[in-house]
Amino acid sequence: MKKKTLLAGIALLGAMALSATGCASSTDAGGDGGDSGGGELITVGFAQTGSESGWRSANTESMKAAFSEENGFKLTFNAADNDPAAQIAAVRDFINQGVDAIVIAPIVTDGWDDVLQEAKDADIPVVLEDRTVSASDDLYASWVGLDFRNEGVMAGEWAAENFADPTKLVVLEGTTGSAPANDRAEGFDEAIADTSIEKIDSQTGDFTRDGGKKVMEGFLQKYGVDGIDLVYAHNDDMALGAIEAIEAAGATPGEDIKIISIDAVKDGMLALIDNKINFIVECNPLLGELAAGIVKDVLDGKTVDKTYFVTDESFTPEQAAEVIDSRLY
Ligand code: AHR
Repeated sequence: MKKKTLLAGIALLGAMALSATGCASSTDAGGDGGDSGGGELITVGFAQTGSESGWRSANTESMKAAFSEENGFKLTFNAADNDPAAQIAAVRDFINQGVDAIVIAPIVTDGWDDVLQEAKDADIPVVLEDRTVSASDDLYASWVGLDFRNEGVMAGEWAAENFADPTKLVVLEGTTGSAPANDRAEGFDEAIADTSIEKIDSQTGDFTRDGGKKVMEGFLQKYGVDGIDLVYAHNDDMALGAIEAIEAAGATPGEDIKIISIDAVKDGMLALIDNKINFIVECNPLLGELAAGIVKDVLDGKTVDKTYFVTDESFTPEQAAEVIDSRLY
């Protein structure tokens, strides 16, 4: 499998992507709402996961801006509210509508074989963005996204370097069965193996701020503030929820309990600069232009790679303060 890294220009493309607003929670046709006049536009159905996080909002805006009528697309957008069955049903609807191409951000990795085969049988190319699937890569044209496993490794390596003494770790996991939750856990665990960091608990907060807050409240009740040294949150929103829970318990996040998270969205970066989060690994959501380019290439019969990886950075509070003004999400 070829691995190609795409980084140059993504920030610039993202500026355009973020000029749109709004995040629908159900199907809506056409980002701009206007009648396209049909004809020349490429019809695309986009099956988004939902609207669980700040990252997801930025990703949705990026996709809607890139798949605009101005750029030659007629987009039908569906957000499945994190329900895998609803997302598969949305893809089936797109197949029945006979769209030119389908783009999916798969909520979970498993369960895609049948519907991807149906799309293939209907000669509708599928491009995956953001998350991966366990189905054979013969069933889709291409995937563009981030190396979630490496994000976990980067987070874990920072923890390993900064926690030499015995450390009690709790983990706020992303959506169960999703590629980022699986891979970020695996990469982190590998990086902290053979250190004195002990994972005492790990539960899903479903990538939401509320979920992170509730799970952290449970951890604090069970282990107490003094029984937890470090939180690893699979995304910024859950880390922000954990901050609320730690403050409500009378402790200082980032000091009494250290926090590592992933995404580097605006609210997460501001909490990092405030020293409430101690380290963030980026997960770039601005994938719209890249996905749109791949869809056009596939429909033009050009050869595309199976995977396109976008590179991530990482930030300490000092590094976050230096870049915050130029961040696009
Ligand atoms: O798939 C990417 C993950 O999904 C982001 O890290 C998280 O914030 C989002 O919900």
